[in-house]
Amino acid sequence: MKVELAEHAGFCFGVDKAVSIVRDEIKKKENKPIYTYGPIIHNEEVVAELAAQGVRAVEDSDIGSIAPGVMILRSHGVSREKEEELTAAGFTIVDATCPFVKRIHKVVEKESEAGHVIIVGDPGHPEVMGIMGWCREKPYVIRDINDADAIPYPADERITIVAQTTYNYKKFQEIVDYIDKKGYYINVVNTICNATEERQEAARKLAESADCMIVIGGANSSNSRKLYEICKERCEQTYFIQTLDDLHLELPKSVRLVGITAGASTPNKIIEEVQKHVRNEF
Ligand code: F3S
Repeated sequence: MKVELAEHAGFCFGVDKAVSIVRDEIKKKENKPIYTYGPIIHNEEVVAELAAQGVRAVEDSDIGSIAPGVMILRSHGVSREKEEELTAAGFTIVDATCPFVKRIHKVVEKESEAGHVIIVGDPGHPEVMGIMGWCREKPYVIRDINDADAIPYPADERITIVAQTTYNYKKFQEIVDYIDKKGYYINVVNTICNATEERQEAARKLAESADCMIVIGGANSSNSRKLYEICKERCEQTYFIQTLDDLHLELPKSVRLVGITAGASTPNKIIEEVQKHVRNEF
C-alpha cells in the first residue's frame, strides 16, 4: 500500500506569517499582555502552545474587561471599524492580516466608492465580515448560486465581485458566469488565493486515484472543510480529522493508495505524524 501526501498541503503563506508574528511578539518580552483577536489559526494545538507562552485569544466580549496590551489581528483580518475600536480602547495593534486579504480590503474600499460590491463567500465567516467592514456601502453577500437571483442592484450599475480567499474556484466561476448571463455590468476581481487553489487542485488530483483520503484540518477551518468536500466527491472513503487521535482507520487489504491532504492551518508536525502512523500501521 502506498501513502501519498498531496503536492500542496498544510500551512499557507498567510498563516505561517501570522504565527511567526505572534512568536516574534513573544520573543520581544515587552512585559505587556499579548492577545490575538480570536484564535490566531484554526488549530487547537498551536493555539494551546501559544497560550502556554502567555498569548491569550480573546473575543469581543472580553475587550472591555482586559488590560490593554498588544492585540494581534489574525490572518482573516477585521473591519476598519473594529480596528479603530480596538485602537481607541488602548490596544497596540499588530496587523497579521494576510496580504491577500488586505488586498481585498483595498479593492472593496476603492470600488465601493463608485459602485456596488458583491462578496462571494460565507457571510458568517470572520474574513467575510472583515471585508464587509471595508465597503463604503453595505455589500451583498452570495453564499451560493441560489443567492444570485436576489441581487438587489440594477443591472446597469457597476458591480464589483470579489470572493472569500478560500472559496471554491469552480463554484466562484459558475456564480460569475450566471450573473454575467443575467446581463449585469460586472467587474470581477478573482481574490481566491493561490494557496487555496493549489491545495484544492492537488487534493482533487490525489482523491481521483486514491482508495482512501485523509483530510487533516481544524473543525472550524473552512478551507479544510472544502478540501474534505472535494475529496469526498471523488473518493467515497474520505476521513476528516483534526489530529492523529481522531484517526480510526480500518483499511481492507484491497486498498492500494491512501492520500493525505491538510488545510492551510495544519502544522507540518501533525501531517508528519499522520503520514508516519498510516505507513507504519498498514
Ligand atoms: Fe492568506 Fe491564502 Fe492563507 S489568503 S491566509 S495565503 S489561504
